[in-house]
Amino acid sequence: MVIATASLVETQAPVTFHHKSDLGFFKKSHNNGVTQFNNAKQLIGNAFRERVEKIDQEICNPGDEDTFFVADMGEVYRQQVRWKMNLPRVKPFYAVKCNPDPTVLRLLAEMGNGFDCASKAEIEQVLNMGVDPSRIIYAQPCKTNSYVRYVASKGVRQMTFDNADELRKIAKLYPEAELFLRILTDDSSSLCRLSLKFGAALDTTDNLLALARELNLDVVGVSFHVGSGASDPNAFLKAVQDAYTVFNQAASYGYILKTLDVGGGFCSDETFEPMAGVLGRALDEYFPPHLGVNIIAEPGRYFVSSAFSLACNIIARRTLEDPKAASGPEGVAAPPSYMVYVNDGLYGNFSSIMFDHQNPIAKILQSGERFHYNTEAANGTAEQGRGTEYSIWGPTCDGIDRITESIRFHQTLDVGDWLYFEDMGAYTSCSATRFNGFTDNHDVIYVCSEPGARAMLGIKWPSDIMMTMMAIMVITVIMVIVTIVLGCDDAEGAWRKRGADESL
Ligand SMILES: Cc1ncc(COP(=O)(O)O)c(C=O)c1O
Repeated sequence: MVIATASLVETQAPVTFHHKSDLGFFKKSHNNGVTQFNNAKQLIGNAFRERVEKIDQEICNPGDEDTFFVADMGEVYRQQVRWKMNLPRVKPFYAVKCNPDPTVLRLLAEMGNGFDCASKAEIEQVLNMGVDPSRIIYAQPCKTNSYVRYVASKGVRQMTFDNADELRKIAKLYPEAELFLRILTDDSSSLCRLSLKFGAALDTTDNLLALARELNLDVVGVSFHVGSGASDPNAFLKAVQDAYTVFNQAASYGYILKTLDVGGGFCSDETFEPMAGVLGRALDEYFPPHLGVNIIAEPGRYFVSSAFSLACNIIARRTLEDPKAASGPEGVAAPPSYMVYVNDGLYGNFSSIMFDHQNPIAKILQSGERFHYNTEAANGTAEQGRGTEYSIWGPTCDGIDRITESIRFHQTLDVGDWLYFEDMGAYTSCSATRFNGFTDNHDVIYVCSEPGARAMLGIKWPSDIMMTMMAIMVITVIMVIVTIVLGCDDAEGAWRKRGADESL
């Protein structure tokens, strides 16, 4: 798990806000998406630069040059606004498993979200933030006995089930639980399929509801998950239709279900709006607002994926000279290619390559003395035969630990240079291991490109501090001037008085 090693204020302080234009960005950001984007990029870039410039590769201590994240809480906030605009009826219960970063959880809690937890540790983390147990759903259809006893002791009532054994377990350990019947979906279009493992097929739901009634359990809703990283909006339509069928089945057993949980699967890219459009229309058709059914969801990657960027240091390089291509056409020597080894890999924050089928794109953060964040020079080149070819490898001894098979850059990379990767917030650090003795606990530098999120997190932003200091200085100067003027007046008054006395 990623742990912040410094507080927000401390880590943000170095994010420079000394240029007048920086302050201007915030003013414009409400009505200019491009400017807002630039502002966020500038904050992230400043944070990267500040950290990287502090590290002297020649003398630094082991670990000083470790991989680190920069996380923009403003991006999480914008995703919340985007959600509200597209799915106003659906209340998110953030899937903690995706990224249990404490600052993310705090911001999401402040914004009124609930939480989807899958284990005792996740539930404990959320409860320890002071979140009410009614804002948690234990959305794991196959639960550990001792965890069920734990949630019973804490009053976390909402939980999912999808089979008869689980119903009997709950009847024994926590008969007061509020149960959601998780149904099977067609998740064939998703990155990570879940229906192989979870979900009751529609031909089993009737029997499950009958058993729940027999065991005198409280079934309150239906849940589904169309698979993590879903790409077919129609999967939502079909799932809502199936949920509607189960609502009706439940009614025949005397259960008037009050909540539909549409799960996760939403991506943060441009697929979100069409996906939300199909889901929203399906909800309005099958669960129109006048029925009074609560709609909740369990989005994970949607909130965090784009909020986190990762910087990695090049720790080693291997030059590959191809003896057969020692000289190119017309006797010109063929350029070498390189294998570069960075201090993070598939066993670390790039676990998303294995478990989440991701393909993180390397960009150059710093080569030599030059800082390239968010510039053309940072990007690999798509032109065949141009630039220098690299493959990028993790630090462990395992041959599968490769991040990028082939990428071409115009820059020549060497040991000590830095790469960065965007969209690294989902299913990255949470599934990192400590294989080969490398840490799974990397620093997170938080920035915040949205004033609303800063206010919710109670952050004193450098610009706020500057404004306060400037106000204090102005007041002090005014007071000094007033004192001097009054002093003069007094002196003048005293002088006049003395003159008057003398003339008497
Ligand atoms: C039950 C459940 N809910 C929510 C999620 C979050 O999914 P996503 O990150 O795709 O939104 C998952 C992911 O595996 C899950 O298993």
